[in-house]
Amino acid sequence: MKKVSFYVSNLVKRVLNYGKFKNEFLKRLPKEFHGAARLLFYHTFTPAEKELASKIESFRSRIPELSSAKEIYSYTSPHSNSFATDEQGNALPGEYLGSAVEAHMKTGSSTFNGILLRRIVEGAGVKRILELGTNTGFSGCYFLSVPGTELVTIEGSDALCEIAKQNMDRISDKHRIMNMLFDEAISKLIEEKATFDCVFIDGQHEQKATLHYTQRVLPLLKPGALIVHDDIYWSEDMHAAWEQMVQDPKFSQTVDLFYKGICVLGNGAENKAHYDMGEYLPRPEIFRKNW
Ligand SMILES: C[S@@+](CC[C@H](N)C(=O)[O-])C[C@H]1O[C@@H](n2cnc3c(N)ncnc32)[C@H](O)[C@@H]1O
Repeated sequence: MKKVSFYVSNLVKRVLNYGKFKNEFLKRLPKEFHGAARLLFYHTFTPAEKELASKIESFRSRIPELSSAKEIYSYTSPHSNSFATDEQGNALPGEYLGSAVEAHMKTGSSTFNGILLRRIVEGAGVKRILELGTNTGFSGCYFLSVPGTELVTIEGSDALCEIAKQNMDRISDKHRIMNMLFDEAISKLIEEKATFDCVFIDGQHEQKATLHYTQRVLPLLKPGALIVHDDIYWSEDMHAAWEQMVQDPKFSQTVDLFYKGICVLGNGAENKAHYDMGEYLPRPEIFRKNW
């Protein structure tokens, strides 16, 4: 019932705000984010996106063929206020839990979220992407489907790395999977003097961890680079992290796309701008309340 009323209010708000979205919001919003904002508002894929999404979705049912492991382990997202570091200042991950390989057919980006990521990357002309949280490689497949993109993706679970490699190879070989904890891999990339024009942070969904990784990746980025955060409405705590980033003077632009939050790294000289889809569509409810 709650779901039905959300869909009805969503539809009503969409119809009422149609003109405002088109004639006000899209006029203010930088062009590179139009594709992503349109997807959120109109909920429609192009024929090419439909074809791509159904190809990538077909990989899901084949996940059990990609691993001989009985149980697949992954790092879970910890509860609020559980953040801790080791003596070197590296973040401790969430619990490492195993589950049947079939359970991992459901994880990873959905078609909607995958196409949303693809539109962000394509719209901004991003070429070198760093991802924190590979999982089975679904978001990776969407990133790699944009011509000319290269992906470095970090995942602590060996079995997931093995699965992700085979999934992503079906789209492109322009990827490097780092089978390490996020902090270890970021240190290695800093040592290598690697640079990226987009970082997607999609693991360890906890406020302090999110802010920690946001700080850690900065040496890998130049002004104009994007940091895309997943699940900014996942918990009150994750939303609080997002609100801090919206206020952070380091970011010249922030865009609230509900399922993703984009931060554009500034050069310190621009005025700050925030763009919020919540002015035109009902904001999603917090997914894990009191987490
Ligand atoms: C939400 S999933 C990523 C989903 C993927 N980006 C997608 O959209 O298809 C998060 C992944 O991050 C990994 N992870 C979480 N914390 C980690 C850490 N501190 N170091 C390395 N991997 C971690 C988990 O094992 C999990 O597979």
